Amino acid sequence: MRMYDLILKKKEGGELLPEEIRFFIQGYTAGEIPDYQAAALAMAICFRGMTEEETACLTMAMARSGDLVDLSGIPGVKVDKHSTGGVGDKTTLIAAPVAAACGVPVAKMSGRGLGHTGGTVDKLEAIPGLKTEMGRQEFLEQVRRIGLCVAGQSGNLAPADKKLYALRDVTATVDSMPLIAASIMSKKIAAGSDAIVLDVKTGSGAFMKTQADALALAREMVSIGEKVGRRVMAVITDMDTPLGCCIGNSLEVMEAAKVLRGKGPEDLTEVSLELASHMLRLAGMGGPEECRRRAREAVESGGALEKLRQMVRAQGGDALALDDFSRFPQAGLCQEVLARESGYVTGVDALACGRASVLLGAGRLKKGDPIDHAAGIVMLKKRGDRVEKGEALAKIYSSEEGKLAEGQQVYLKAVSIGNQPPQARALIRARVSRDGVELCGEPSGR
Ligand code: URA
Repeated sequence: MRMYDLILKKKEGGELLPEEIRFFIQGYTAGEIPDYQAAALAMAICFRGMTEEETACLTMAMARSGDLVDLSGIPGVKVDKHSTGGVGDKTTLIAAPVAAACGVPVAKMSGRGLGHTGGTVDKLEAIPGLKTEMGRQEFLEQVRRIGLCVAGQSGNLAPADKKLYALRDVTATVDSMPLIAASIMSKKIAAGSDAIVLDVKTGSGAFMKTQADALALAREMVSIGEKVGRRVMAVITDMDTPLGCCIGNSLEVMEAAKVLRGKGPEDLTEVSLELASHMLRLAGMGGPEECRRRAREAVESGGALEKLRQMVRAQGGDALALDDFSRFPQAGLCQEVLARESGYVTGVDALACGRASVLLGAGRLKKGDPIDHAAGIVMLKKRGDRVEKGEALAKIYSSEEGKLAEGQQVYLKAVSIGNQPPQARALIRARVSRDGVELCGEPSGR
């Protein structure tokens, strides 16, 4: 078999055979197929697409390129959760402890921030002392003991995806539906859970800018999961505007703790409980209403917050920080961003907010850059709020004057102000399962 022939076949719109896909993934992972040939094939896939069979085969070849985590020693239905990436998205820190508090074991491997989007591992590391790197045995032992572990992607998990993702990032081949679906699902399948809840974001701050694209990606991922025997459910949620009010690592952990105390922003609470309820449903804990009730009760009883405290302690972190926010790293500088005109906030662009927060130091401009865990944004006015000229739209935090000024400029451009309040928009757009698509048109949030 020759890589040249595979590239030519895909370039001409042909369908790759399972053995050809496996040849590519095995050869590329082993370093036998050079980057330039892999990039050429990725580009051909971008233009020609892949059938469902090809995508499922690519996913499994990537999942099997490294270790497959075996969670069978842990009793119960293990449920994972994944977001396609957003701004202010701290739902893992809420939904995972809620599910675990209801008795569903959650063994989750998370990533770091990517571009303008945040990552759970960076957020968790804002908790003083908390470690996200751990060996496989330690990871499994923690899930067995307390029912919850959120750690970094360890060891040799889907190495083909790691290599291919880095290549796609620099060859303009990230935005291909089958490549994204295979990339996400290969990691989730290798991570070993029985069921997976996907939060597919749509809007300016998401990879999928339109709802149609988000739906297509969700359908593809649900179908791949079901083909290989995993229960998968996807929720399409809004990412035109940041989720919650806080962007930046320690700020987001504090906001998650507020939600777990029943005192967080409405939009973040709603999306987190929606995801947690689906995690419970996939674990067989009842119908939609029963699962929603259980999730709400886990928050109201304090059980979910206690579960997060247990996880933080188990991973060496300062659990008292979840109750006493002064124990988090504090930013050296803080400034209010003032409105330049009066009116209604008609939009707060998620992509621009994500960029502003990276400029403030909360994300990385290039791979390996250090992160300022205290940097970020607290939004004081959200979409739909009335604002007067000179009133504060947000507070921004950084450790350097220059970064504060840059962040402020970008944040100001993210906010649009008009004379009329904007129309309400649905926060949860659709639910996708093996049974089909349920569109949710009703507005919730603003
Ligand atoms: N997230 C991933 O893990 N992979 C992609 O290709 C895109 C987003």
